[in-house]
Amino acid sequence: MQDKKPRISFFGLGYVGIVTAACFASKGFKVLAYDIDESKVNLLNEGKTIIYEPCLDDLVRYSVKNGFLKASVDPNEVVLNSEITFITVGTPSKQDGSIDLRFVKDAANLIGKALKSKNSWHLVVVKSTVLPGTTNNVVKVTIEEISGRKGEYDFGLCSNPEFLREGSAVQDMLYPDRLIIGGSKKSTDYLLNFYKMFYEKLPETIITSAENAELIKYANNAFLAMKVSFINMIARICQKLPSSDVEIVAKGIGLDKRIGPLFLKAGVGWGGSCWPKDLNALKRFAEEIKVDVPLINATIKVNEEQPLIAIEYAKEMLGNLKDRKISILGLSFKPNTDDIREAVSIKIINKLLDEGALVVVYDPKAMEGIRRIFGNKLVYAKDAIDCIKNSECAILVTEWEEFKKLKPEDFLNNMKYPALIDGRRVYNPEIYSSKLNFRAVGLGYRN
Ligand code: UGA
Repeated sequence: MQDKKPRISFFGLGYVGIVTAACFASKGFKVLAYDIDESKVNLLNEGKTIIYEPCLDDLVRYSVKNGFLKASVDPNEVVLNSEITFITVGTPSKQDGSIDLRFVKDAANLIGKALKSKNSWHLVVVKSTVLPGTTNNVVKVTIEEISGRKGEYDFGLCSNPEFLREGSAVQDMLYPDRLIIGGSKKSTDYLLNFYKMFYEKLPETIITSAENAELIKYANNAFLAMKVSFINMIARICQKLPSSDVEIVAKGIGLDKRIGPLFLKAGVGWGGSCWPKDLNALKRFAEEIKVDVPLINATIKVNEEQPLIAIEYAKEMLGNLKDRKISILGLSFKPNTDDIREAVSIKIINKLLDEGALVVVYDPKAMEGIRRIFGNKLVYAKDAIDCIKNSECAILVTEWEEFKKLKPEDFLNNMKYPALIDGRRVYNPEIYSSKLNFRAVGLGYRN
């Protein structure tokens, strides 16, 4: 068992890679990170990152400055100067929703090439989200083929999924609910020993097969998404009942310890870089192995329909949306991130544009990404008030703190016609309903 701090390398400087690498390095582990993208590598070596994530900048700056974190475009350099390699490349969806393993295979190829010239045992850890069987049947097999080395004898393999949430990724990495480690005894012992050095107090840990570890990740995301789609389905029932409110219903069921209060916030739907792709990948995988997954299908279906609630409400309040000025408050898929991948805002904007509306948008961090998609089809406001100015309907799509602070008077004094749709349930319905034309997801409409 190793006593010395192992040196760590990473393949993939995406959001998981950079956060994990920076957290390891911030605790004095030597971390080398490979990425094919030279601009990312250069930026990191200047102590900067391209993603916005609370606390990340400080960790990266500190780690680079103190020589704990370095990026490289040379895959051999990072493997040969480390004992553990984490694969943190993306696993996007193919056109048909199935998982695209291109980047995982590329990483395994490069690691295999490097391991050819390494004489000591090396541990490869798959952190990317991959379907059950991938660590052993794809990563291990590829490395064996390329390196001519034997898996488990010359190099070890673990599946070690991550559960970080964007917007609180650093916190989640440093204080996780649990660690899941799958693989052979030698490999899992080695990784566990590293984590014992990293965490002052080891989180609850499950050591299991690689397949279980891989499936836990998908089941986890699918269950959470199902919980949100479930409450969104209940929200639709509440909307038809004049004195009903999904917020109260969610609170009521959340107090049951068997259900719990988290991930029961109804809204205009879920998005992001993980859930949509992971649920689709799981669905396709289940089809391949001939397992029926009606709950996954229903979870996706509810979510596809959910953003339309905002459009229905807008039509209810304004009638025809053609040439009506509509403001979108919030564009990122959730607050505290600039990530707009699969963001609900994009679906709502597209629908409004189809209806001929004039769409004005504002987000504290995600303007650039949206501008790249929509260009001059939208008006880009400089702040929240500028966004709602002279507008006829405002739709709150992402619950950034600064939008929560808007008062009924802000809407009354700035909008041409003060109609507000609360797509994330941040405004007090009693107060806002009494002052504005107000609708909210999961709120029964009271005349
Ligand atoms: C999700 C999981 O929560 C992480 O555990 C996992 O590691 C990550 O995916 C991943 O696989 O990499 P993330 O996509 O960052 O994390 O975001 P969440 O906080 O889970 O939110 C997902 C979506 O659900 C967001 O659009 C959010 O607005 C929505 N949501 C969440 C709700 O509508 N209601 C809720 O109660 C909770």
